[in-house]
Amino acid sequence: MKQPPMRILYSRKEIAARIAEMARQIDRDYQGRELLMVGVLKGSFLFIADLIREVQTPAIVDFMRIASYGSETQSSGIIEFRKDLELSIKGRDVLIVEDIVDSGQTLKALCARLLQREPASLRVCTLVDKKAARITDIHVDYVGFPLDDGFIVGYGLDWDERYRNLADIFLVETE
Ligand code: PRP
Repeated sequence: MKQPPMRILYSRKEIAARIAEMARQIDRDYQGRELLMVGVLKGSFLFIADLIREVQTPAIVDFMRIASYGSETQSSGIIEFRKDLELSIKGRDVLIVEDIVDSGQTLKALCARLLQREPASLRVCTLVDKKAARITDIHVDYVGFPLDDGFIVGYGLDWDERYRNLADIFLVETE
């Protein structure tokens, strides 16, 4: 299969440095508490693996599998919960870990679902925030890289399931 033209947007070195900074911020905010990090599969699998090893705050981890439908590069707003958490989040400090927030529809549906379970707190951390694409009013607490526009792959992010295994994040050049 022919690979589309792409160029590095965030190198593995830049990603690692930014994650270390985010972890320090999370540590400051959660002093004396225990985190329950919720990774949203599949896209967040590399980010949460690196973030949880940088964070010094005691942390446990669980995963949800959510898929949003649409074309290869555009989400449709139809969200399917395919795998639920295994742990109870009641009374816990929950941090959702996403690879990218785009329209915000996935996060909005996820937050609504998790809030029903009465966590002590619920915050959101994303590696990439495409704020300009937002069509919901959700709040993101920790952002690695803001991104104005463009389709990106690598470091967990896919194009039709491919390129998740790239160690850097690439911008796909559509022109
Ligand atoms: C991506 C990403 C977020 C969601 C963001 O997941 O990981 O969960 O889309 O889009 P939104 O803000 O427009 O809702 P995707 O559904 O592509 O599944 P994946 O994590 O398995 O790649």
